[in-house]
Amino acid sequence: MSEDFVVAIDGPAGAGKSTVARRVAERLEGFRYLDTGAMYRAVTAYLLRIDKGNASEEEMGRAAEGLSLEGERLLVHGMDVTGDIRSAAVTADVSRVSAVPRVRRAVQGKQRAVRGRLVAEGRDIGSVVFPQAAVKVYLDAALDERARRRHKQVPEFSADEYKGQLERRDRLDSTREDSPLVKAEDALLIDTTNLTIEQVVGRVEALVRERLRRGGRSAAE
Ligand code: DC
Repeated sequence: MSEDFVVAIDGPAGAGKSTVARRVAERLEGFRYLDTGAMYRAVTAYLLRIDKGNASEEEMGRAAEGLSLEGERLLVHGMDVTGDIRSAAVTADVSRVSAVPRVRRAVQGKQRAVRGRLVAEGRDIGSVVFPQAAVKVYLDAALDERARRRHKQVPEFSADEYKGQLERRDRLDSTREDSPLVKAEDALLIDTTNLTIEQVVGRVEALVRERLRRGGRSAAE
């Protein structure tokens, strides 16, 4: 098995994290892509599926403790919720569920249990989940641009509606007490507003290759 090597990609919603992380993982030998937002989404989807939109923190925590990753599938207490995680209802509710400390402990524990070569994206990967990550990147972009991209990808809502949704989610994610969205001090900030996906992927890939060439992990270890 290859040695642990984590590439952490954090940032607000719609900054391009998923696309960049997925492509970087594809281009590098032996790397696996880990979508940590999908895990919080799965817990939220499960609660909505079992009609527990108003679950207590304890119930939310228990749901998170029942989360398992099976290949590309996400199961909660054995229920496959993979197909639900991108729904508008889940997107609207996920920041509330993911702010609950017991939910975060459970989900972060499952993230840390994933070993090997990883490109992990989320909000607290470089700051809390893998503070010793070999490469840390924080992707950001202007709100208008993020909303425009979302609308182009999924025209379900107008760019203006997306703008409101993204703004609200960023506020909730960055003001929660437990492991909020924050740029780790040693993360490289990349503002993607005026960059193409290819340019961003190229920069992150170059950083990782350079780090792999030099061997070893991070100075923080
Ligand atoms: O990246 P995403 O939009 O799929 O993430 C969904 C939500 O999950 C996001 O609004 C906040 C939460 N999240 C988190 O709290 N920590 C992470 N590492 C990833 C996502």
